[in-house]
Amino acid sequence: MATEKHFKYVVLGGGVSGGYAAREFVKQGAQPGELAIISKEAVAPYERPALSKAYLFPQNPARLPGFHVCVGSGGERLLPEWYSEKGIELILNTEIVKADLASKTLTSAAGATFTYEILLIATGSSVIKLSDFGTQGADSNNILYLREVDDADKLYAAIQAKKGGKAVVVGGGYIGLELSAVLKMNNLDVTMVFPEPWCMPRLFTAEIAAFYESYYTNKGVKIVKGTVAVGFDADTNGDVTAVKLKDGSVLEADIVVVGVGGRPLTTLFKGQVAEDKGGIKTDASFETSVPGVYAVGDVATFPMKIYNDVRRVEHVDHSRKSAEQAVKAIKGKEAGEAVPEYDYLPYFYSRSFDLSWQFYGDNVGEAVLFGDSNPSSAKPKFGSYWIKDGKVVGAFLEGGSADENGAIAKVAKAQPPVSSLEELKKDGLLFASKI
Ligand code: FDA
Ligand code: NAD
Repeated sequence: MATEKHFKYVVLGGGVSGGYAAREFVKQGAQPGELAIISKEAVAPYERPALSKAYLFPQNPARLPGFHVCVGSGGERLLPEWYSEKGIELILNTEIVKADLASKTLTSAAGATFTYEILLIATGSSVIKLSDFGTQGADSNNILYLREVDDADKLYAAIQAKKGGKAVVVGGGYIGLELSAVLKMNNLDVTMVFPEPWCMPRLFTAEIAAFYESYYTNKGVKIVKGTVAVGFDADTNGDVTAVKLKDGSVLEADIVVVGVGGRPLTTLFKGQVAEDKGGIKTDASFETSVPGVYAVGDVATFPMKIYNDVRRVEHVDHSRKSAEQAVKAIKGKEAGEAVPEYDYLPYFYSRSFDLSWQFYGDNVGEAVLFGDSNPSSAKPKFGSYWIKDGKVVGAFLEGGSADENGAIAKVAKAQPPVSSLEELKKDGLLFASKI
């Protein structure tokens, strides 16, 4: 007979937010037996960013249990036994296929039901697949995506099987840049293909992108811009052999990695909860339009106080902090205490090859590049400020030290006025260090 279980708190999704929520529930005094985390993954919550970086390194790749949460933010590593010690039920390998918010019931693919008093939706995103657009041949073998540890295992196995072979990376965003680098580090012959005029257009200016594109080219990565994959050839085993591009050219391929964006996993809740900007709409405590139901991480569209608008953020820092905020709000409500509103400063970062950048704030207005952005320099260090209405609203830094990154974060938060863009360009990091 299918099981039925009841918990005071259920976290749906055992990813980054799920893990950080669990730690916060314990900090806030949740009692053994009160909390369950339900995840379709087979492993306890882990720091997802490792999958596109150290997990795929040719030497000493990172493996679980090494990067379970909360190591990514310098906290205690929550091993599976931590959950049992704290009386938290970690319900793994369990996909929820139906959510009925009216009866507070979740139903799994195997027919088990879970009821709750408070629900935290932390389902994250799924990858957009080329087969979703009907791209010809997109279901051939070795056309791979990356979201979960299972995907990373498939990718790692393909890299081992195709040593010295050809890899095509479709997409010029985060996955595109991080995967091209790590595939190159594995000695594959790598070509990146993306439709825009430069990589990472949602954040990078043309000048910032020019640095990364040259750096990658110097490392041997080939870059094909302004076109998309329209089809794939495969051999008689169904293994991909070539990528056909819209501009008519054909790239040989033993492995294809696709990173063409994510889609927040909100389908279970369609029609039951208010949505906005593709995500589940929440207040500043991440409570949704349904009382007692919270949404955090990639799926939440929340008030971004600093910019007086509402946004959805698909980055790890926010997934951690939103989870903590929601749990504080849940426990605060029980105690009759209000918690301060979420006041989030956007923070994104990436690492590839020997490079490492951080960005804080908003990339709107006029951009001013500063520093040494010569990709052939021994240790390039450069950045960009974004200026809107005479104030610095965003700051990017490649190659910064911890203190320097701290300084650009402070600038983005403080939004100091700027009188001369030329002076700002000349001062560069000095401007940030004076704030
Ligand atoms: P997350 O995706 O972490 O977790 C969702 C969980 O819910 C998963 O375990 C999933 O299986 C589960 N789930 C979903 N639906 C379910 C259902 N119906 N039933 C049961 N379980 C279900 N960000 C950054 O700032 N810097 C970085 O370097 C990186 N690097 C990076 C690499 C890679 C490969 C990816 C995919 C993403 C990043 N990110 C990142 C983004 C960051 O990892 C992401 O924003 C957070 O993981 C979001 O946390 P969530 O908890 O919202 O979702
Ligand atoms: P993305 O939105 O960063 O990039 C998508 C890219 O896909 C676009 O820049 C574009 O170049 C490309 N594209 C779109 N349609 C295309 C098409 N038909 N053919 C070829 N290219 C096409 O998404 P992503 O890189 O797939 O990342 C997925 C998710 O993982 C995002 O939520 C991202 O934030 C997250 N992630 C974050 C990091 C990080 O923060 N360092 C690292 C990895 C992944």
